[in-house]
Amino acid sequence: FQKEKKVLHEAHEYSSKLYHYLLLNTEAAKTAKEYLTGRGFNDALIEEFGLGYAPARWDTLTLALERKGYSPEEMEAGGLLSRRQETGGYVDRFRDRIMFPIHDASGNIIAFAGRLLSDGQPKYLNSPETPLFNKSKTLYRLHEARSAIRRARQVVLFEGYVDVIKAWSAGVHNGVATMGTALTGEHAALLKRFADEVILCYDGDNAGQAAAHKSIPLLEEAGFRVRVSVLPNRMDPDEYISAHGSEPFVREFIEGAVSAVKFQLIYLRKSHILLEEDGRIRYLRDAVRIVARRDSPTERELLLKELAQEFGVSLDTLKQESLEYRQQEK
Ligand code: CTP
Ligand code: MN
Ligand code: MN
Ligand code: MN
Ligand code: MN
Repeated sequence: FQKEKKVLHEAHEYSSKLYHYLLLNTEAAKTAKEYLTGRGFNDALIEEFGLGYAPARWDTLTLALERKGYSPEEMEAGGLLSRRQETGGYVDRFRDRIMFPIHDASGNIIAFAGRLLSDGQPKYLNSPETPLFNKSKTLYRLHEARSAIRRARQVVLFEGYVDVIKAWSAGVHNGVATMGTALTGEHAALLKRFADEVILCYDGDNAGQAAAHKSIPLLEEAGFRVRVSVLPNRMDPDEYISAHGSEPFVREFIEGAVSAVKFQLIYLRKSHILLEEDGRIRYLRDAVRIVARRDSPTERELLLKELAQEFGVSLDTLKQESLEYRQQEK
């Protein structure tokens, strides 16, 4: 098993070098290179993140791996090749895609994500689960971000690969991303070794905000202090940085990330109509319930004060209500 893994590591390393070489040196990669330039990837970024290009052919990697003496069965099991049902022959799994190498925490390449150059499905094709690659334990760029995470005792979690890369170029070096899957308890446990605080910097759309909302209890149970970046709707970190620049991004959404409870209150607003008295009453009830779950009396008081002011009710009433919820939940 160890030997099989070693062979797969080497094959991934070799494939990554090949994809990278093809991106930088071939005519076939011209569109891919232009696509990357259009998205703000300069040569230094392509180099730093080891990006590559898988040509629009069925046999580029298949032939290269064969020449190197790798067995196609093993390469298929490793997720680099696919097997055609009809013929039983082996073909490249990734075709006509920008290739993002994915490393384990020690820096070995264990998988790839391949992005289409235009609209189409799936936008990203990831390696399948293999002996090397377990999505629910892997965090994109953890191997490089780890030292910055440790230094700050803080990690920034993104949704997308490109978000991690653009944030990195904006100076956020403690950023990682999940592999297009939900955050798991395993991810949280892994990060807890290096950090005490997580900033959730997900996309500003409903899906991203809902994912942040879902991740909060998971992270708090793992012992993290959680803050959340609330990006404008329909913008992700990459798009924000491209549109407004690095400095505003860091100021507004990293330094300016709000506390978990503040985010929960912002999120709660979306499902209540505050223009109607009914809606306001229901919002206040749910909001006080959220506040009541906080352990710190000071935090509870400050939040209740804000709610009292905004909705023109007395602090005493809200405190009384909060106390009732706390007693119920015991
Ligand atoms: N994802 C995936 N497969 C897809 C779509 C998305 O694995 N078909 C994962 C990728 O990890 C992607 C992340 O989910 O980075 C977030 O999805 P999305 O916001 O749609 O993509 P972006 O990261 O914004 O990708 P891009 O900027 O390249 O369009
Ligand atoms: Mn290079
Ligand atoms: Mn998204
Ligand atoms: Mn996105
Ligand atoms: Mn994006």
